[in-house]
Amino acid sequence: MLKKINPTSTAAWSNLQSHFERIKNVHLREWMQDGERFERFHIIFEDLLFDYSKNRISQQTLEHLFDLCREVDLPGAIHQFFEGQLINETENRAVSHMALRSPATKSFFVNGKNVQDDVHHVLNRIRQFTEAIQSGNKRSFTGERFTDIVNIGIGGSDLGPVMVTEALKPYHAPDMHVHFVSNVDPSHIHQVLQKINIRRTLFIVASKTFTTQETMANANAAKNYFLKYGTEDDIAYNFAAVSTNEKGVQSFGISPAHQFEFWDWVGGRYSVSSAIGLSIACIIGFTNFSAFLDGLHAMDQHFRHTPLDKNIPILMALLGIWYNNFFEADSHAVLPYDQYLHRFPAYLQQLDMESNGKSVDRKGEAINYQTGPIVWGEAGTNGQHAFYQLIHQGTKLIPCDFIGVVNSHNPIANQHNLLLCNFLAQTQALMMGKSIEEVEPELPRDQQDILPFKIFEGNRPTNSILLKSLNPRTLGMLLAMYEHKVFVQGYIWNIYSFDQWGVELGKQLAKNILPALQDNSTASSLDSSTENLIEQIKKWRKD
Ligand code: F6P
Repeated sequence: MLKKINPTSTAAWSNLQSHFERIKNVHLREWMQDGERFERFHIIFEDLLFDYSKNRISQQTLEHLFDLCREVDLPGAIHQFFEGQLINETENRAVSHMALRSPATKSFFVNGKNVQDDVHHVLNRIRQFTEAIQSGNKRSFTGERFTDIVNIGIGGSDLGPVMVTEALKPYHAPDMHVHFVSNVDPSHIHQVLQKINIRRTLFIVASKTFTTQETMANANAAKNYFLKYGTEDDIAYNFAAVSTNEKGVQSFGISPAHQFEFWDWVGGRYSVSSAIGLSIACIIGFTNFSAFLDGLHAMDQHFRHTPLDKNIPILMALLGIWYNNFFEADSHAVLPYDQYLHRFPAYLQQLDMESNGKSVDRKGEAINYQTGPIVWGEAGTNGQHAFYQLIHQGTKLIPCDFIGVVNSHNPIANQHNLLLCNFLAQTQALMMGKSIEEVEPELPRDQQDILPFKIFEGNRPTNSILLKSLNPRTLGMLLAMYEHKVFVQGYIWNIYSFDQWGVELGKQLAKNILPALQDNSTASSLDSSTENLIEQIKKWRKD
């Protein structure tokens, strides 16, 4: 059982509060007078650099934050987490995605059972399967090679594979294409079916539960479309499934040879390193998928064994708490300066908001302090031409993570330098701002009336995360870094990060509304807005 300590009742929290009052108006320009600041406030771990010097912190701030970690016994919680204890208490499950990338030679216990044989058995099957797909040994019902993979899933069964396959595009097998169908909107599957040749397509139905409405609707649509060309028996060739629900997969008609299992101790949004990554492995090959798992494992080890003051996920989490709970920042932007990472913010939205968007603590009591922030973002430099105005001059404080990659896969003229100079300039501008004294001399006399509009307050905090290059290993490290940041924050906020009861109500109500949309029956106990919207939908359908 995780400890249940209200963070705001700790001495460290009170100290942080008084410390905040003392330093809240100190400008980053002042902090930056210290020429050693970068030296003290950055960490290099393998090919990943984390620079947190452009934050509104002093060494004293960090000391108070570390005291908070000790007071709530974060080290003890990390130990419980890696020991595979049942820390997802509202679902009575362990949370052990780290087992999925742990080497076969090391035991990894989940609720007292060493799971490494199971994990590596599935990994071996994934290796054989993907190698057979890529070599052409495994073929479609027509005997043709597979050229297209369609992953059908949603949430954690989609966002991870989408993000990773996009991020690792340079590693895709030539002549193979991967597609994703997630939305229950029929236009989504329609568009994908338009693009593929059914005779050369492998459908992977990815669903932890194998009951998710959207996924099952899309899987059935794919099956019906397939049956126009092939027979029921042919499904065995062109469909595979990844799930914890063996029975559900069998009754869908998928052959046991194409079933890949994972376990209830893998949360949906933490499942990208499980068999849910099958579509990734098919497209980038098993060697690259293994390197991705190794990167995740390397960061797991860093998180587990590194002291607080050198531990990247812990520092990221503490900085987030500092802004969220003391500066009252209510959102956090993630800004990857790499086109291949364009789906990274969307992936993090589920990881972070589905985990830490909670308002009841581990004792079951309502919380009176802020928990998870709104996570959002967009690839740089596109974001610069959309919403950066608000980050620079708006009324809200928005801490940002800038993620840059040093060596581009596609060096074209000086474009990558143009990208990186924007990355660096933006973090500098957000930090330094532009004072009235700096603006004034630049403005012609007859334009002095616009002077107030050209001032940048600055003092806007950023983390800079640099990868030497974007490859399977560094991507794995980046991803695990955020996974563990979310763990630390949820633990300190005294919430359960690994359940998601908040998505249930909407699902339940949709079931009630569906019959009313489909026929003339009326849904029970509807409010007047919903009732009238249904009526209008029906009316316009008849028209
Ligand atoms: O959105 C709720 C959720 O349960 C997520 O946690 C999960 O990733 C997603 O639905 C998909 O679930 P499944 O993999 O069981 O289809």
